[in-house]
Amino acid sequence: MIDYPEGATPLDLDELAGLKFSHITTRGELDHLEQANIQNGLRWLARLKNRDILNDQFARKLHLQLFGEVWSWAGQYRLTEKNIGVDPLYISVKLRELLDNVQYWVDQDTFNPKETATRFHHQLVYIHPFPNGNGRHARFYADALLEKLYSVDRIDWSGGYDLQQMNERRQQYIHALRAADAGDYTSLFEFTGVDQ
Ligand SMILES: Nc1ncnc2c1ncn2[C@@H]1O[C@H](COP(=O)(O)OP(=O)(O)OP(=O)(O)O)[C@@H](O)[C@H]1O
Ligand SMILES: [Mg+2]
Repeated sequence: MIDYPEGATPLDLDELAGLKFSHITTRGELDHLEQANIQNGLRWLARLKNRDILNDQFARKLHLQLFGEVWSWAGQYRLTEKNIGVDPLYISVKLRELLDNVQYWVDQDTFNPKETATRFHHQLVYIHPFPNGNGRHARFYADALLEKLYSVDRIDWSGGYDLQQMNERRQQYIHALRAADAGDYTSLFEFTGVDQ
């Protein structure tokens, strides 16, 4: 369970105690349980008719639907500091600020749909609201924005790879996020397929 891929967020002991299954011994078993939970969460998301998704209630609800069968802290903001992310005290205010900005970009047509979704994704994982599952949550959230608000195709994040394992696609993704942290979105736009 300890062999995390590059750019992953390690859990602390309290967070590990939130695991709803006691018999898990390997990362593979955990991945499997999370994957099954995510399938159910994505079915919930696909059925959802409400287009009002740019608010913190939806952000937490989506995380709960994706991870709530496996982790007791799913849908709750993290309380501990991680190697990435804002101070836990500022998560709710930073997230609300981001969601308001994205709403503004949508309303004003500031960027094209994919650029909006890419900027949203990056800033959401940068805030890192939850103890874990931020990458997956923020990828599905960005896709929900594209599909439900813009009625366009989702982003091809994996590009034929498994983005949760260490491979060249994951490496490109993490490096592009780090460049975006420094204000340069070029690689991330290339990664998500934004016309530039
Ligand atoms: N320097 C960075 N800047 C912004 N975001 C980052 C950075 N490094 C990693 N990330 C994001 O954080 C995610 C890892 O966080 P976490 O482990 O909470 O999510 P996860 O869903 O378990 O990850 P994944 O599914 O990608 O393995 C990465 O997938 C990536 O989206
Ligand atoms: Mg993780």
